[in-house]
Amino acid sequence: MNNVHQIDHPLIRCHLSTVRNKETPPKEFRAAVRQLTFIAGIEATRDLATVTTEIETPIQKCQGYEVEQSFGLVPILRAGVGMVDSMLELVPDAQVWHLGLYRDEKTAQPVGYYNKLPAGKPVEMAFILDPMLATGGSVCMTCETLKTWGVEKIKMISIIAAPEGIHRVSTEFPDLEIYTCVIDDHLNENKFIVPGLGDAGDRIFNTNG
Ligand code: PRP
Repeated sequence: MNNVHQIDHPLIRCHLSTVRNKETPPKEFRAAVRQLTFIAGIEATRDLATVTTEIETPIQKCQGYEVEQSFGLVPILRAGVGMVDSMLELVPDAQVWHLGLYRDEKTAQPVGYYNKLPAGKPVEMAFILDPMLATGGSVCMTCETLKTWGVEKIKMISIIAAPEGIHRVSTEFPDLEIYTCVIDDHLNENKFIVPGLGDAGDRIFNTNG
């Protein structure tokens, strides 16, 4: 699958150990999510188109560069919120469009509950942000929504992905590019990623009781 990029980097492996460890407290979990997102974001933005500009250093004029495309970050609530700040460090002028989805606990099907995308004027390129790609249902629903909005190019950044979800998303949306820090082994009977990291939303927001 040419559009699936598993990022191989020693710092990714170290930060992944932090988010996997069940003893990691929320503050450190959030920090590791930010660091993983930052590294993945560098990779995912590698092919951004730029235009040249003229700038002036304190010494003389020289050539500069600006990102050419209009650019949107699309965090999936809740867990995707934990990835926004890192991406904004990389692309401070990006628009941020939140989409609210949760996975029904019994059926594992995504349920949409928040969408304020405006009619018309879509961004040219959108980055879906969600730390977890499990069955792929949430990402497929998000891709449908973004394509209906009119987005031409969609990428996804995740921290951990299951092979089952990658297969589904790649089959339904072959032009979606997926950047993930790791592809884990499988989904269990409850559709949780194994070995995984638990529920990213609960661990970021400290709501797992
Ligand atoms: C998790 C995760 C993804 C989704 C992945 O969210 O953050 O959004 O499940 O599962 P899927 O690939 O099978 O669709 P969850 O439903 O737990 O919501 P939360 O972020 O509010 O905790």
